[in-house]
Amino acid sequence: MNFDLVTCVICPLIDIQVKEIDKRASGQAFEVILGTPAPDAKGEFPLSPPKKKDLSLEEIQRKLEAAEERRKSHEAEVLKHLAEKREHEKEVQRKAMEENNNFSKIAEEKLNQKMEANKENKEALQAAMSEKFKEKDKKLEEVRAKKETKEGGAEN
Ligand SMILES: *[C@@H]1O[C@H](CO)[C@@H](O)[C@H](O)[C@H]1NC(C)=O
Repeated sequence: MNFDLVTCVICPLIDIQVKEIDKRASGQAFEVILGTPAPDAKGEFPLSPPKKKDLSLEEIQRKLEAAEERRKSHEAEVLKHLAEKREHEKEVQRKAMEENNNFSKIAEEKLNQKMEANKENKEALQAAMSEKFKEKDKKLEEVRAKKETKEGGAEN
């Protein structure tokens, strides 16, 4: 088992000592000692300053609570950040929708204007054509009248 001593940060908290008992080329072996080490073992393999070894239950509890507080605080921070991000996304979406609505409105107005212009053009064209037809009819009528007068004169 490869056991990194540095990673055993909770060892002093829970009153555990890790002692190297054998060192070979293949790896390291450790002995886990529960409780306070015997006086003769002290200083032989110090894991941490002696004052930290005798943490009381209250102190451990305080440390755990502080860690829990930090975790909660960090979690709240993350949640707040997420909420802000979501709010920003909503705002972007709302603006995009508004822009789209504005665009649709403008497009509709332009289409209506175009249709109105087309209608007016069509009406003007129809009026012009109608006027031309009327003139043509009038001319045809005049030609027919002349012809009839002529023919009538020849017959008579
Ligand atoms: C949409 O149009 C309104 C008024 O017609 C304007 O106040 C608003 O800024 C426009 N929004 C966008 C995103 O173009």
